Order: sequence, then C-alpha cells, then structure tokens
Amino acid sequence: MEFFVSPGPASRQRSECAIVGIYDKGVLSDAAEELDQRLGGRIARLVKKGDLRGKAGDVLLLADITGAPIERVILVGLGSRATFKRKQFRKALASAVGTLAKTSAKDAISYLACDDLDSYAQARITAEVVANSQYRIPDHKTANKRAKPFLTRFGISVTQRGDRSAAERGLAHGQGIAAGMSLMRDLANQPANVCTPTYLGNAAKTLAREYRSIRVKVLNEEECRRLKMGSFLSVTAGTEEPARLIVLEYDNSPRGGAPTVLVGKGVTFDTGGISLKPPPGMDEMKFDMSGAASVFGTFKAVAELELPIHLVGVIPACENMPSGRATKPGDIVKSMSGQTIEILNTDAEGRLILCDAITYARRYKPDVVIDIATLTGACVIALGNHLAGLFSNDEELSDALKEAGERADDRAWPMPIGEEYADQLKSNFADFANVAGREGGAVTAACFLGKFTEGLRWAHLDIAGVAYQGGSQKGSTGRPVPLLVDYLINK
Ligand code: BES
Ligand code: MN
Ligand code: ZN
Repeated sequence: MEFFVSPGPASRQRSECAIVGIYDKGVLSDAAEELDQRLGGRIARLVKKGDLRGKAGDVLLLADITGAPIERVILVGLGSRATFKRKQFRKALASAVGTLAKTSAKDAISYLACDDLDSYAQARITAEVVANSQYRIPDHKTANKRAKPFLTRFGISVTQRGDRSAAERGLAHGQGIAAGMSLMRDLANQPANVCTPTYLGNAAKTLAREYRSIRVKVLNEEECRRLKMGSFLSVTAGTEEPARLIVLEYDNSPRGGAPTVLVGKGVTFDTGGISLKPPPGMDEMKFDMSGAASVFGTFKAVAELELPIHLVGVIPACENMPSGRATKPGDIVKSMSGQTIEILNTDAEGRLILCDAITYARRYKPDVVIDIATLTGACVIALGNHLAGLFSNDEELSDALKEAGERADDRAWPMPIGEEYADQLKSNFADFANVAGREGGAVTAACFLGKFTEGLRWAHLDIAGVAYQGGSQKGSTGRPVPLLVDYLINK
C-alpha cells in the first residue's frame, strides 16, 4: 500500500473516500466544514436532525456522494475538542478504517487532525494504524478464507503549512513500524509445529536475503556446546526439534560505532518441561518466542527505514519439553559466563537461555544490551496487559526506553531490581538458583539476568502481558516493536 500527503482541501481532492471528523455536540471540524460547502450543507443538516452528534466512536458513512471529486464520506465522532488527544485520534482513525473496510473503496484520504499532535506524529500514527488494519493472520483455514487487504492508497492532509516533509517522514516511519509489527505477528501467530527454531533460523536468512544491510549467522547445538552455553542447552535437552542461536547484524552507522544489541527470547513452545504447566491455555505458549519475533520485526523496520545505526540481534531459539533426556529440577548447569545454576524449576527456562545469549553479546562490545522476553506470569499480575515491565541497571537507558514507549503508544513501566531481590536466588548447591519463590517473581527473574550483565548498560523488557492477546482476539499484538523502533530512531 502507498501512503501520500494530500495537497489540497477535501472538497477538491479526488478520492474514493474522504474521512472527516465531527466534535461533540455536532461541531464540525475545519475539514468537515470545508467539505460541507461542496455538499450543499448536507452534513450540517444531519447534525440538525440529530443523526450526527460527534460522540467519540460514532461513525456515519455517506456512500452516495455525487458531483464532488469524492465518492464517499466517512464522518467520525471525535468527542470534545479539549479531550481529543493522541489516544482518541488513534481510536477515531481505527473506527473510520473499520467502516472503510465495509465499503469497496480502494483508496481514501483522512482529514482528521489533532491539536495535540504535530504533523510528524499525526502522519506516523496514521500510517501505523492504517497499515496495521490491513494485517491478516497467516491463514491455515481451508474454507471461508479471511478477507484480503483492501486498500491500495491512503492519503493524509496536513494543516500546518510547510510541514509536508515532516509528514512524509512520519508516514515513512509509521509504515516501517507497521512492517516490523507485521513480521513479528506473522512469526508469533504461527503454531509451534510450523514456527520451530529451524523456521526462525530460516526467517533470519530470508531477512538477510531481502536486505543487503542485514547479515545473519545461525549456530547449531554443536556450535553452542563449543561456546559452553550449558544453560541454554539445558533447556533444549528434552527436545527432538534442534535448537538454534540466531545472530543478526545490521550496520549502517557512519563510524561503525558500538552496537545496540537486542536479545530476544525464542522459546517456540514452552510446556514448562518436567515442571510441566497445567493444560488450560497452554496453546498460548506458542507465543513464548515473541521476544525473538520482536527482534526480527525491529530489524525489518530498521532496514526498511535505513536508520543510521549499528544493531545486533541475538536470539536463542528452542523448545522447552519434558522427556527422558530433559533437565530435572535440582540439576546443576554451568552457564557460558562460568557461573553455575541450580535449576529448581524447569519452567523458568527463559532466563536460562537469555543469560547465555547476553554473555554471547559481550563479544560485540555493545553500547547497550536490551533483552526482550515473555519472561514471567508475575509481570502480568503486576502490570496487567497494558504496560510492559522495564528493568535496567542504567537510569538514562531506562528513561530513554520509557519515553520511547510513550511516544510510540507502546508503554513500559519502570520496575525495581536490587540485592534484596537477588538474594532470594541463593542456592546451597550452586552459585544461585533459577527461581526464588512467588513473591516479586518478575523482579527476581530480572535479577537473575542481572547476574550476567556486570559492566554492561542493560535493560530488560518483560513483555509477557503485552505481546499477545488471549480470548476471542487471540493473536500477537506486534508489541514492543513500536517502542524499540522509536528508541532506535531517536538514538
Ligand atoms: N513463558 C513463561 C512466562 C509466561 C507466563 C508468559 C504466562 C506469558 C504468560 C515463563 O517461561 C514461565 O513459565 N515463567 C514462570 C516462572 C516461574 C516458574 C518462576 C512463571 O511465570 O510462572
Ligand atoms: Mn516457562
Ligand atoms: Zn517461557
């Protein structure tokens, strides 16, 4: 799909559909007012009749426009002008696009504006929302195939004069983010019998083929053994499906500076291992590679946007299965860092694969290391499904990620780490254990990772609550690709 900045007012711009806003109590937005003159006061009459109140979420489709250069008008309720901020803008646009989907229009122009947003932000949000509306889950249904994407062109208008280039940059960034989210969702939505560690390795090779700026290395278990990744390998001990360590590198920095390293948890299915999970909802553990998928998505966006940065991705990918060869509670393993771990619960496997990946990341002499993982149910209890958990040993990095999340409407919330919590990991038999009881479970998990990050500027995003939805909307959300890409854009 193509996005463009529309040069003229609604009444003069040819399109199959114009989207204009109506505020509370039927107050026409500037664009609606302008268009209404061309429509002979039709919109104002609808307001007078009481059919158009401008309540947030209301949408009215006029499908039979004649005489104007447009064929349809979608009137979107915006609520009160004072409270019409970025969130409401997103929602209004989403409902407009929902209505657009019910028509046969292939192109449209949005004239929605928001006092709270500059042209860049407005354009970026628009491109992201509209492109995301075209996303379709990889289809395994044999009948009633899902509706195909329908839009070919989408325009926005900018109100401020001279903001055209800012708007164009916003459109590009929004599209890049949406492309990254779409790749993340494609990978995460695949079932675990399709999306195996081998499949992820191939997806990395495909990315590298698609973008000359991306290089890839896929290590097998033997190579991981030679690297002494005893912790990572202990998780895959019970599987038939072979594990992979996937390394992506994108370098478009002017002076080949120290890279940002993204480490993504790639457990393609988490049964819990010998500490087997209960059956209800276990299918959702196919999403336990969402951290890895978000790294893929971020690479896609960064390569698409040709950002001038140096980025490395390290993805430990494996299944967590019970079997006669599986790791048992009480087993002690040696991590790549040399530290020994008593595995008290084989379901706390994410930290076991991440710690070796973080140690591996040191060879890149990173500027910062950010790991992304569906790590703990405890984080979902703490923050629900709205915000990701943000842990860091560096305040500046933590602030930068928090702000990126806010700008991208993909928020993360700072959580503590510290010795009190780390002490809960004490073991009588090894350097420390992999679990520390139920209390503060998201924090102790982060503290476990903290034992491998000495001397690194490091942050950890626990995305267990935000990476996917359950229930009737079950599926990957594409988060935290927007946060990560925003962070890299502004770096
Ligand atoms: N993948 C899970 C975390 C998870 C739980 C993600 C629910 C999404 C929804 C992780 O591997 C896990 O099982 N964590 C355990 C840790 C515990 C054994 C200390 C958990 O959260 O129960
Ligand atoms: Mn687990
Ligand atoms: Zn897991």
